[in-house]
Amino acid sequence: MSAPTLTNFEEKLKNSFPTPESIPQEVKITSKNYEPLYLIDGKILTWTGPLQEVSSPICINQQGEIKRSIIGMVPAMDEKAAMDGLYAAVRAWDNGRGVWPTMSVKGRISAVEKFVGMMRLVRDEVVKLMMWEIGKSLEDSYKEFDRTVDYIIKTIDALKESDRNNSRFSLDDGVIAQVRRSPLGVCLSMGPFNYPLNETYTTLIPALIMGNTLVVKPPKFGVLLHQPLLEAFAECFPAGVVNFIYGHGTNIITPIMKSGLIDVLAFIGSSKVADILKLQHPRPHRMRSILGLDAKNPALVMADADLDLAVRECVMGSLAFNGQRCTGLKLLFVHTSIIDQFLTKLVTAIDALPQGMPWEKGVKLTPLPEFNKVQTLKGYVDDALAKGAKILNEGGGTSYETMFHPAIIYPVTPDAALYGVEQFGPVVPVCSYSDEQEFLDFVTKSNYGQQLSLFGTNPKTIAHLIDQLTNQVSRININSQCQRGPDTLPFTGRKDSAEATLSISDALRCFSIRSLVATQANESSKDIIQDIVTGRHSNFLNTDFIL
Ligand code: G3H
Repeated sequence: MSAPTLTNFEEKLKNSFPTPESIPQEVKITSKNYEPLYLIDGKILTWTGPLQEVSSPICINQQGEIKRSIIGMVPAMDEKAAMDGLYAAVRAWDNGRGVWPTMSVKGRISAVEKFVGMMRLVRDEVVKLMMWEIGKSLEDSYKEFDRTVDYIIKTIDALKESDRNNSRFSLDDGVIAQVRRSPLGVCLSMGPFNYPLNETYTTLIPALIMGNTLVVKPPKFGVLLHQPLLEAFAECFPAGVVNFIYGHGTNIITPIMKSGLIDVLAFIGSSKVADILKLQHPRPHRMRSILGLDAKNPALVMADADLDLAVRECVMGSLAFNGQRCTGLKLLFVHTSIIDQFLTKLVTAIDALPQGMPWEKGVKLTPLPEFNKVQTLKGYVDDALAKGAKILNEGGGTSYETMFHPAIIYPVTPDAALYGVEQFGPVVPVCSYSDEQEFLDFVTKSNYGQQLSLFGTNPKTIAHLIDQLTNQVSRININSQCQRGPDTLPFTGRKDSAEATLSISDALRCFSIRSLVATQANESSKDIIQDIVTGRHSNFLNTDFIL
């Protein structure tokens, strides 16, 4: 049977994949990454059981046959191995009396400082793996690594600041007290594939530095990139404080949750999975959840908006990292009076985005890592077309293997799936509106409540909308795309979008609980306190000022 004839666009996407010889030497990865390593109880071991292939979205053209490449192997652990990881974390916690949870704040900060020093040494290796595993451009992969290092450094500074504020005693109503923040226990940390390093570390590091112990399960894509960091974890922290496990969620996470030994769940992923995990815990009230979940952030482009700015921000908001950001703009509402101009500019801007392999300079659109993602996106597009929408840009929705050319879909009506689902990919649904109430209704009825963007120039209209919307979402962006950063700002959501708040300082609060030591302000108690402090007998009760 002869191969089907490809359209010009399909041919172009097909030809964007490299042959083994055309991959630049400096971005090739070595067989070193094939080692199925894991870290449990302070030891880096080679897994001898079943393995799971790590498949890259970067397909390779081998004499005309184009296939995803296999770039490594990771352990496909079973229940026993996963529980070994959990028990190591439980032992390191030791009912809150382990070396790490009782260590001075200064001691924990020194360990994390050493870790960040070692982390910097593997920057190029981690970045290269990130690019191959999730298809993120080389430039953005470096940005993710550097942002994560900055996050850790700012976390250290925030902890110093909070510890300084707690390094004094209070005296009220005849009671002397010292209030500090203490760790919660054993934390299960699971990050997402789209920010596999950053979003794993923005929970892992605050949990760690506050004195918790951890079991970390890397995401399915973005798993190998954690391997070069295992040595730093093994060297910088006491045995069992950080454990990395790998495998299928139902095999390794279900038994961990059912054990009831998890005190904190830090999970970035879908609300559906979060609900399943929480329900598996036998005493859910004992477990604190820190969750970053689904979102369908909309943009409202008003009649008086600066169109060039709105288009620029909507393009980045919808298509940065191929639309695979939880903060991405996932539905654009544009006023009927400017819809034609807006769409013309949008098509031109999206047509100009370079599509190719992640190492190509200036590339903006790259292969998609999730299996069957292209088919899912096509399903959404076909559904919208069946309900009266059109694809506005040439080649929109064309795909070849893991490459998908972005599709601008208009008009998307409330009965189309794209109106409600989080597409998490390069599909840009647009609808027009004549009354702002349509936008308010969309936001109110939505299951999600993370962020939204307003584009316009009339302060009174914007002020009115802010007051209507501020109790529906957690961040309103004026004339700018939605985003998490800067990391000092609170990052959270309402409804199905999040539980708890992350920012550099908020994360330290999330992973800790206030504990205090108090006594009557009489002479004998004062003498005891004085002796403990001046004799430096306690890591908790002290007045050290960390510089
Ligand atoms: O996927 C969700 C990320 O937290 C978004 O972060 O807005 O900095 O891309 P970002």
